[in-house]
Amino acid sequence: MLKGRHLIDPEDLHLQELEEIFQLTNLIIKNQEDFHNLCKGKILGTLFYEPSTRTRFSFEAAMLRLGGKVIGFSEPGSSSVMKGESLPDTIRTVAAYTDIIAMRHPKEGAPKYASLYSQVPIINAGDGGHQHPTQTLADLFTILKSKGRLNNLAIGFCGDLKFGRTVHSLIKAITRYPNITLYLISPEELQIPAYIRKEVLEDKNIDFIEVERLEEVLDKLDVLYMTRVQKERFFNEADYIRLRDSYILDLKNLAKASKDLSILHPLPRLKEISTEVDQDPRALYFQQVKNGMYIRMALIMKLLGVDKC
Ligand code: NCD
Repeated sequence: MLKGRHLIDPEDLHLQELEEIFQLTNLIIKNQEDFHNLCKGKILGTLFYEPSTRTRFSFEAAMLRLGGKVIGFSEPGSSSVMKGESLPDTIRTVAAYTDIIAMRHPKEGAPKYASLYSQVPIINAGDGGHQHPTQTLADLFTILKSKGRLNNLAIGFCGDLKFGRTVHSLIKAITRYPNITLYLISPEELQIPAYIRKEVLEDKNIDFIEVERLEEVLDKLDVLYMTRVQKERFFNEADYIRLRDSYILDLKNLAKASKDLSILHPLPRLKEISTEVDQDPRALYFQQVKNGMYIRMALIMKLLGVDKC
């Protein structure tokens, strides 16, 4: 039962629960009008202490499409956070007015901390350079739809693997399925954090290799997950400028890739995927955007316990 639970980390969901969310998402996509009133009378709170386009809008659109309502802020400057209110007090207040809360925060662990003070489910919509479990739901669903499976896959992660929270969450989630091989493509300074390498990969005997050049491994991949270099997490602008354009995927280097490659990106995209790739049938990132809304509809329904359909 997912009703009433928080979603802070991708491993908060068992594989069976993930499967149920995917099935419900498929139903929502097929029969959208059947879901228009299921959350009537319910309110989603969106607390975004960091910028967002897709995550916040998709949560809001998801709740509105289920017949519910939304309150919240898209930057904390307009709330009592500016007066110095603590996170526990803000959460206890918003939880008194809402049925479920989606929260993004620059500090790693903030949604977990908030969940200790909340009577209603807290969904981590991204915490610093740590985790982003609902993007992972969209990513897994997109891979499942394009490949027909979540096991037996060679997956390349390319770009900022150090600060990219979507990367950390997807690595955690996908390596729970059998026979996954990871190709971790990044400059040395942007390699995965030590805790992911040790606890998620080495301790669980996951097959992975770390390389600097995308061209070296592109032809081996079933899925390529491109990412933006996370400017806001750098201490030093010069390092960011030096590293930001480390990878550029274009039609020329894609010629070496499999015809069945699935190209994902959590977006926003800067230069790491050339816009000419958007027309290629292998480019799935705008499909991924749409899947993100449907899967959040399914998640909200499950956490509110209104999935009896
Ligand atoms: C990502 C994020 O916020 O971590 N975007 C998203 O939620 N779709 C990726 C990013 O900002 O690069």
